[in-house]
Amino acid sequence: MAKINGNFQKLPGSYLFTETARRASAYAAAHPDKKLIKLGIGDVTQPLVPSVIKALHEAVDEMGHKSTFKGYGPDFGYDFLIDAIVKNDYEARGVKIGKDEVFISDGAKSDCANISDIFDIDNTVAVCDPVYPVYVDTNAMAGRAGDFGNDGRWTNLVYMPCTEENCFTPSIPSKVPDIIYLCFPNNPTGAVATKEQLKAWVDYANRNGSVILFDSAYEAYISDPSIPHSIYEIDGAAECAIEFRSYSKTAGFTGTRCSYTVVPKALMRGGVSLNWLWGRRQSTRFNGTAYIIQKAAAAIYTEQGKKETRAVIDYYMNNARIIREGLSKVGLQVFGGINAPYIWVKTPGGMGSWDFFDRLLDKANVVTTPGAGFGPSGEGYIRLTAFGDAESAAEAVERIVRNL
Ligand code: MLT
Repeated sequence: MAKINGNFQKLPGSYLFTETARRASAYAAAHPDKKLIKLGIGDVTQPLVPSVIKALHEAVDEMGHKSTFKGYGPDFGYDFLIDAIVKNDYEARGVKIGKDEVFISDGAKSDCANISDIFDIDNTVAVCDPVYPVYVDTNAMAGRAGDFGNDGRWTNLVYMPCTEENCFTPSIPSKVPDIIYLCFPNNPTGAVATKEQLKAWVDYANRNGSVILFDSAYEAYISDPSIPHSIYEIDGAAECAIEFRSYSKTAGFTGTRCSYTVVPKALMRGGVSLNWLWGRRQSTRFNGTAYIIQKAAAAIYTEQGKKETRAVIDYYMNNARIIREGLSKVGLQVFGGINAPYIWVKTPGGMGSWDFFDRLLDKANVVTTPGAGFGPSGEGYIRLTAFGDAESAAEAVERIVRNL
C-alpha cells in the first residue's frame, strides 16, 4: 500500500490565498449585486507593456517556421535573457554575477519552494513573522517544521518577529538557524532593509555557516536610492546567499510566468557547491521556461521596455500613495507602501485580523488579506495591495473609511 506524505496532514486549513479567495467568492455568490474591489492577493491588473507584447508576437511567429522553431531550450535559460539579467540587474549596480550563476525559472514562488530539495531535512529554518506563507508551508511539507501548535507556530521553526517596535525588520535570533529566509522589500509588511541591516545578516550567516534565502521579488518598487535591490550588493553575500527574482510584479507576469534564481559558485556548504546542487535539481525536475516567455522577459531590458515597465510601477506606487494617505488621514496606523507595493494596516480598536477582513468584505465590499494569515505577529493587521487600478484604489479607501 502506498504511503502518503503525512507532513501534509499537519498543515492547518488551506493555503492563505485559497482561503481568502474562497471567502470572497462565497460572498460574491451570495451578493451578486455587490461590486467587490480586490486588494487581497498581490495580483497585477495592468496589461503587459507593448514591448513585451511585440516580443511575444515575434517569438510566436518564430515558433511557426521550421528555420526558427525551438524545441527544448538550454536547461537554465537562454543566453539572451541571462546576459540581459547580468548586465542590467547586477552589473548596473556594481555587482558581478556569472552567467552560470543565473537559473531562469517559471516563478519565484516555485523556486522559493523547490530550493528546499537541496537542503537536508535536518536543518533549522528561520522565518520572519509575519511571512510569505510559502516558505513555512513548503518546509512543513518537507517535514522540517515539526508540528503546528495551538499558538499558530511550528515547533521546529525559528520565528523572527517583525513588529512595529522593530520597524518590521527582524532581529538576529538567539538560536542560530541553518537556513534564513529574508524578503525585502517585504511581503507582507512593505518594510525595507538598509545595507547595514543586510550586512549584519550576511556576516552572521558567514560566521555560522547558515544560508540566506533572499527573496527580492519586489526590488523594482524601491525608490530610495540608499536601499539595496540585491543581497549581492553586500560584501560576503556570494558566500552565503541565494537570491530569488520575479517578473511577476516587475513586469506584470503573474499570469505569464518567468523568474530567475541566482546561486553563486562561491556558495559552498559541506564542501559541496550549492550552484551545482541547484543545477542538478533543475535539470532533472524542470524543462525550462518557454522560449516565447523568455523572449518576452528579455524585452523588459530594452530601453523602451524599461520605460514602459517603469511607468506601470509608478502607476501602482501612486495607488500605494492613495491608499496610504487616505487611510492615515482617518487615523489608521499605516506602514509600508513607500518602497513596496504592500500597505500594512493596523486594525482599528485592536480588532482581530480575520474579523476586520470579514468586516471589510461584508460592509465595504473590499477584499484584503488578514495579517494573521502571514503568522502570529501579523495578528491585528491587514494587508492591502497597490496592484489594483487607480479608481478602485481610491474607491476602496472611501469605502473602508465609511465602514470603519
Ligand atoms: C502575495 O499576494 O503575497 C503574492 O501575490 C503571492 C505570490 O506572489 O505568490
